[in-house]
Amino acid sequence: MLTETSTNTDTTVSVENIHVPDADLPAFTDMPFEDIEELELDHPGASDEDYRARRDHIAACAKRFRESGVITDVEYTGQEQGIWRHVAQRLEELHQKHASPFYLQAKERLGISNDRIPQLSEMSRKLKELTNFRLAPIEGLVDTRAFLSWLSWRTMLSTQYIRHHSRPEYTPEPDIVHEAIGHIPMFTNSNFADYSQFIGHGARVANDKQLEELGRLYWFTVEFGLVEHEGNVKAYGAGLLSSFGELEHAFSDNVERRPFDLERVINTPYDYSEMQPILYVVPSYAELKEVTRRYIESIASRS
Ligand SMILES: [Fe+2]
Repeated sequence: MLTETSTNTDTTVSVENIHVPDADLPAFTDMPFEDIEELELDHPGASDEDYRARRDHIAACAKRFRESGVITDVEYTGQEQGIWRHVAQRLEELHQKHASPFYLQAKERLGISNDRIPQLSEMSRKLKELTNFRLAPIEGLVDTRAFLSWLSWRTMLSTQYIRHHSRPEYTPEPDIVHEAIGHIPMFTNSNFADYSQFIGHGARVANDKQLEELGRLYWFTVEFGLVEHEGNVKAYGAGLLSSFGELEHAFSDNVERRPFDLERVINTPYDYSEMQPILYVVPSYAELKEVTRRYIESIASRS
């Protein structure tokens, strides 16, 4: 999920920069971070002191990465593992019906099971081997440009804490369920990984209007994307795959499922607080990548 924007431009990026050596990664310490000490009042854990303390502890683990460059594994509690098992099992039933076949295989390939919360360190190691993508822990939301720009370095910023036990089906913010069940498996697809990196390139050079367009592109693909598969429509977006409500809603008669058209997508506003009434169906991840390559090249050439 994304928040509002900051300013920045970088004219050194190119859509040919597919492979990023570790030595070229920018310093993580330069990232701007929101203060996450105070949860929003409507967060189910906002008035739970134990939950807040636990969250602060996990946030401290994430912060350590910025000093050491090493992901600290979280020792999840029995209650946290229980939330994961409950949510993962229920989501998997829906995934069997609606998730893209690539996603289903990828989840298995990464060793993400319903039994235990996967560690970012193990998933990042496997991603690195498969598509040279990697994960970096963060303790909360960062602004749109910062978040997307890290994709340019084939790096996804990922939270580690889990939602509050009182409402396992709901979270107002990204958590490890959203990241590990929603986002992370798709980065094992090289076309999707390259596509994500192109969005990152774009974010580094975009003006504010272009950044808003990129945010919409990200929203209607990485978060809420649908893909054609052998004459059917399947889900690959993290906001769909990690939410019972959104996933069922996506295939209901209440949603207009449009063929993907980049120009149309970047001009379609969305409301993150509502169930999505419009979704876009890409013909393939390869096609999504190529269309986006041309779009990012046009942004870069105008910057
Ligand atoms: Fe997300």
